Amino acid sequence: MERTFAIIKPDAVERNIVGKILEKVETAGFRIVGMKKILLSKCEAEGFYYVHKERPFFNDLCSFMSRSPVVVMVLEREHAINTWREVMGATNPDNAEAGTIRKDFGLSIEENSVHGSDSPESAAYEIPYFFSQLELL
Ligand code: RTP
Ligand code: MG
Repeated sequence: MERTFAIIKPDAVERNIVGKILEKVETAGFRIVGMKKILLSKCEAEGFYYVHKERPFFNDLCSFMSRSPVVVMVLEREHAINTWREVMGATNPDNAEAGTIRKDFGLSIEENSVHGSDSPESAAYEIPYFFSQLELL
């Protein structure tokens, strides 16, 4: 069993499609180990995405991620990290495969509805950024 960290991003929460995304989560065989709705400050978004701090899109990304609430989750199944990346689809919805979350719901390369850890090292940083052990059930 492996755990990954996921976010339902502001564009999706704003459009009331949290349930549709959770349906894909559960259909793909993930157990929801932790889940909460929070509003990130710009500073908290910057800390979360610090690996991208030199990228040209960093400021826009952190403004987007803090403009309205998100749903943060810890998901568990075998090969959770890679499987969740597959269920999400490519970063740019235009390049995402049919049936993926980003293809079905993403609006643009930035407003692409979901986040997922890209490696075990990322998951090990991201999960405790938002959840304490007591919240992972
Ligand atoms: P994520 O980290 O959110 O799961 O997405 P990802 O791995 O597929 O993509 P990554 O390269 O890590 O980029 C993080 C997020 O930054 C926004 N982005 N905007 N304007 C742009 O060119 C651009 N490129 C990336 C997206 O929200 C992307 O998911
Ligand atoms: Mg990424």
